Amino acid sequence: MIYRPRRLRGNRIVRNLVAEASVDPSRLIMPHFVMEGENRREEISSMPGIDRVTIDNLLIDVESDMKLGIESVILFGIPSDKDPVGTGAYACDGIVQCAVRALKERFGCDLLVITDVCLCEYTDHGHCGVVKNGNVLNDPTLELLAKTAVSHAEAGADMVAPSDMMDGRVAAIREALDDASFTDVPIMAYSAKYCSAFYGPFRDAAGSAPQFGDRKTYQMDPRNGKEAEREIMGDIDEGADIIMVKPALSYMDIIYRASEISNVPLCVYNVSGEYSMVKAAAAVGYVDEGRIVNEILTSFFRAGADMVITYHAREAIRNNWI
Ligand code: PBG
Repeated sequence: MIYRPRRLRGNRIVRNLVAEASVDPSRLIMPHFVMEGENRREEISSMPGIDRVTIDNLLIDVESDMKLGIESVILFGIPSDKDPVGTGAYACDGIVQCAVRALKERFGCDLLVITDVCLCEYTDHGHCGVVKNGNVLNDPTLELLAKTAVSHAEAGADMVAPSDMMDGRVAAIREALDDASFTDVPIMAYSAKYCSAFYGPFRDAAGSAPQFGDRKTYQMDPRNGKEAEREIMGDIDEGADIIMVKPALSYMDIIYRASEISNVPLCVYNVSGEYSMVKAAAAVGYVDEGRIVNEILTSFFRAGADMVITYHAREAIRNNWI
């Protein structure tokens, strides 16, 4: 035998020398759910280990995560009031805007604050856009998304991440940011975002489940792969600085394709349902949580991700799973 692959697997050191992918804490982004009020923390029953927190507790959590080496966060707001047009999403004293200001005031440039730009957490019907006669309207929604992104930038957000899946939103947001002189605020576009049951626990957490119908008219059909390429190329043409594939585990082919066809950085969102499945299986002893989390996170980087949004970030680093 000339080729014996086992030669390079013989011990830990040689395995490390030839390893192709690794998980670096500086490439993990920790999500946070922020709610109004003071000194409150609510466990999210379908996401063990993740809480909804008020801004004072957010500062405490982020500070302890920063000590672990987590330098990037993405924020989701849970407003106390919702209305048909999602006013809370673009209010200058909205929950995310206040949270961004508090984080930037406390941590400055040591923390990268990304904001999720969407209306679903702020609309009483739970859809990601303006609704008329049961339809989610595309173009009237663009203006509100652009307003939301600008309000986040005004509060000090380092990056905005539109997750709504309206057509043309990257261009609309880029133009609005530039007009408001935020030419240096990058857009991380949720480009290939599928209509997925894996978002179930998030919708519990954020109270953002649609009150009628589903998101099939704007989020992608899980049967489609080529369409993801079109979405990605379209977003890059519109000015996306970073593209995203979401969910992650059932979409490894899309992650790989995205990294092959594009030359902008690629983010992967390891979503709530993917997190909760691991938690549930680990809780009953079916799998070894640390090894599973390591393998899952490693696989995203092997598939081509440059960065990963994951609810596992804190525990993975704290427990030396990666
Ligand atoms: C908002 C948004 C969602 C997620 C991120 N941004 C929910 C959805 O589209 O229903 C899901 C994240 C997760 O499941 O962890 N549109």
